[in-house]
Amino acid sequence: MSAPSMTLFHNPASPFVRKVRVLLAETGQQDRVALYGCMPTPVNPDAQVVEGNPVGKIPALRLADGSVLHDSRVILDYVDHQHAGTPLIPRDGSARWRRLTMASMADGIMDAAVLVRYETALRPAEKHWDQWLDEQRNKIRRTLAELEADAIAELASHFDIAAISVACALGYLDFRHPDMQWRLDNPQLAAWYAEVSQRPSMLETQPPT
Ligand code: BEZ
Repeated sequence: MSAPSMTLFHNPASPFVRKVRVLLAETGQQDRVALYGCMPTPVNPDAQVVEGNPVGKIPALRLADGSVLHDSRVILDYVDHQHAGTPLIPRDGSARWRRLTMASMADGIMDAAVLVRYETALRPAEKHWDQWLDEQRNKIRRTLAELEADAIAELASHFDIAAISVACALGYLDFRHPDMQWRLDNPQLAAWYAEVSQRPSMLETQPPT
């Protein structure tokens, strides 16, 4: 086994990082990447992370030539071009746009869920904006409802960019927002997730308890 040629700036709690790690594992590339742990927050950027990545996003992937890719969508696309198997992001045709749109719905869930986490965990309680928090949670509920109504067969068809993204979004809801009890209104998603969450790539990348 050769030494990793790339560095992934990561935090094990981030669902965006998890997507990248799951895709690396699903395509047999995890040994190509060394992990650099960091915990940037909206009020505390990490000096190493902002080098070559001025927005300070994680995940960021430093390549062998020193260049840095971000954010997770760009990294996923890059990583999916680095293996010889069936692409997990369809290269063209209507499947590409549908699967990327499903992945975007999952990213929207993650965005809202992370913002709620930041607001409730980092911001002083007396400054919480309840109406804004409610709307972030409504975004999550609406998106889950659409996936439950329209996307179960597509998700179950193969574990690609769409399925990986939705699985990581649901994993983050379990991790940070168990109070939302997303399974109650979304039994088909719950059944699908019960299965895919047992894949080795998902088990190896579980957020810390
Ligand atoms: C979290 O602790 O929930 C978190 C950490 C890093 C990125 C996103 C979320």
